[in-house]
Amino acid sequence: MSITIDLSGQRALVTGARRGIGRAIAEELARAGADIIGVSAHLETEGSAVGAAVTALGRSFEGYSVDFSDREAVARFAGTITERPIDILVNAAGDISRSPAAEHPLSEWDRILEIDLSSQFVLTQQVGAQMLQRGSGRIVFIASLLSFQGGITVPGYAAAKSGIAGLTRALANEWTASGVTVNAIAPGYIATDNTTALRDDPQRSRDILARIPAGRWGEAADIAGAAVFLASPAAAYVSGTILAVDGGWLGR
Ligand SMILES: NC(=O)c1ccc[n+]([C@@H]2O[C@H](COP(=O)([O-])OP(=O)(O)OC[C@H]3O[C@@H](n4cnc5c(N)ncnc54)[C@H](OP(=O)(O)O)[C@@H]3O)[C@@H](O)[C@H]2O)c1
Repeated sequence: MSITIDLSGQRALVTGARRGIGRAIAEELARAGADIIGVSAHLETEGSAVGAAVTALGRSFEGYSVDFSDREAVARFAGTITERPIDILVNAAGDISRSPAAEHPLSEWDRILEIDLSSQFVLTQQVGAQMLQRGSGRIVFIASLLSFQGGITVPGYAAAKSGIAGLTRALANEWTASGVTVNAIAPGYIATDNTTALRDDPQRSRDILARIPAGRWGEAADIAGAAVFLASPAAAYVSGTILAVDGGWLGR
């Protein structure tokens, strides 16, 4: 079988597109032919780096800033953006809050659960409903190794990312028969702003690296190929799965 991934004519909505993993995925989807709508907390309407990269690849780009800790704002954005068909949704916006569970501020618990879990559902519910009406769509969540493991001093994040694993399977159960696949990618330890604190801690950084069979931290670009695959016709029979892209970490 020969498989060529061509996403020409498809419109992809990528959250967290301003930097890190979301940006890498937006650029790779554009390289595969998709037009991109980006959204993140501070994404510039005009003149963003991701927008420049996407348009340099010959695809169109629209940028929106929406704070995912504000559920009403996410719901309003979802309503507006679904006035046009969305073929691919990649949910890469996310934040993390590090402090021991016994002292973890409940305000941080609420904020992380809202951004990393509830807002993901608020947006995906509306985009997914539109995909169901059209009978096709690709949804990709960004889960985490902490969808499988507990992590260290990130209780809200671990809970939210475990929730994303459940949500991926729940939506796949309901929507796959209608042509909408729902999957997640669980990135390993990727060098982005999300993991700066770990890389700045010599002991944690050494311990993490020592456990990665690939022998290096991941780059945001390492995640992009899996996202393009899951967003493509090549993955038509893949749904409800959580694909680890972790340099071998979970197999260890
Ligand atoms: N790095 C890793 O090792 C790793 C591992 C597993 C999972 N992940 C997940 O991968 C996803 C992307 O993270 P990353 O590593 O690329 O981190 P990052 O470089 O910190 O990027 C996070 C992105 O999420 C957006 N974001 C954060 N808070 C937001 C909010 N309140 N409202 C809307 N957007 C918000 C940011 O927007 P602005 O740029 O506009 O501020 C940014 O675009 C997250 O879901 C993260 O949990 C990362």
